[in-house]
Amino acid sequence: MKVVITGAAGKIGRWTVRTILEAGHDVTASDRKLREESASKKFIQAELRDYGQVIQLLMGCDAVVHLANIPTDIRNTSQAIFENNMLVNFNILEACKDLKIQKLVWASSETVLGYPFVQEQLSYLPVDEEHPTNVRSSYAMVKLLTEQLSGMFHKLTKTEVVALRFANCYEPDEYEKIPRMHWTETEKDIQKQNAWAYCDVRDAARACLLALEKKNLGNQVFHITAPDTIMPDLSQDLAKKYFPKVTLKRDVNGHETLMAIDKAKEILGYEPLYTWRSVLNEDGSLKALPEDQLSLTSI
Ligand SMILES: NC(=O)c1ccc[n+]([C@@H]2O[C@H](COP(=O)([O-])OP(=O)(O)OC[C@H]3O[C@@H](n4cnc5c(N)ncnc54)[C@H](O)[C@@H]3O)[C@@H](O)[C@H]2O)c1
Repeated sequence: MKVVITGAAGKIGRWTVRTILEAGHDVTASDRKLREESASKKFIQAELRDYGQVIQLLMGCDAVVHLANIPTDIRNTSQAIFENNMLVNFNILEACKDLKIQKLVWASSETVLGYPFVQEQLSYLPVDEEHPTNVRSSYAMVKLLTEQLSGMFHKLTKTEVVALRFANCYEPDEYEKIPRMHWTETEKDIQKQNAWAYCDVRDAARACLLALEKKNLGNQVFHITAPDTIMPDLSQDLAKKYFPKVTLKRDVNGHETLMAIDKAKEILGYEPLYTWRSVLNEDGSLKALPEDQLSLTSI
């Protein structure tokens, strides 16, 4: 398949380019900034707020993996995030319509569920794709609006549109920071904001590949996370301690993620392979690193 990957110079994009290339697809990587070490030989620098550039970039491709957005609420004003992300996402959908592109896979976010989670607005745990959305930032607003726009474009065009709601992504060399960043008493409280969900970039990249290759998906939203939470505690204990009034929709085993990935498992065949537990001991000390835990930049 001829695939264009946007946001290819970014954190998830760099791994996604490699994964989709390794699966044998013809990849054109794109970003507004250049990244010399992009795994793809074909790299087109493009500003996606400019529709002419989007059309030229996507012309002739079979599918698009769209990852180019400002990825966070911090470090940018609400207006800058809304203006960039909304226009870019609209341009990509519009170009898929105009160019009759068969498949669009794009990065939505856990934040549409209500980040930061507060007990009163959580209907149940684990949160699944049926859970009501509850946006609290312009970043999350754009992701939710794009999910809604995707439904409209799908009806208009029959382009298959797959939104992957990634949890907070980690590169392999970032796991060392977890105890310091998430396990202290104050941080534990902050981490409950997304029900302790996270995702390894390599699993995020593989989810993009699975969504790309799976046929007849129509218009879909999937949660994509690690198999477990970011905490050493049992998931049921975390839920009981930090969200005592929230009911568990089903049994939760061991350290299982509280952002449910059952739908992605069932429909996409997604099985997350990476967890901090293979890198760190439960006291936070480092295990001996297996070779595939090296960071991309050190390869
Ligand atoms: N990293 C996470 O934890 C996380 C979690 C959930 C969702 N996401 C989403 O996944 C996607 C990728 O995130 P990331 O962490 O790799 O971000 P990143 O910032 O590392 O990469 C995003 C890339 O998009 C490019 N970009 C932004 N606006 C552009 C524009 N107007 N034209 C062309 N290129 C543009 C940037 O140059 C950047 O290289 C984003 O849509 C983000 O919202 C990320």
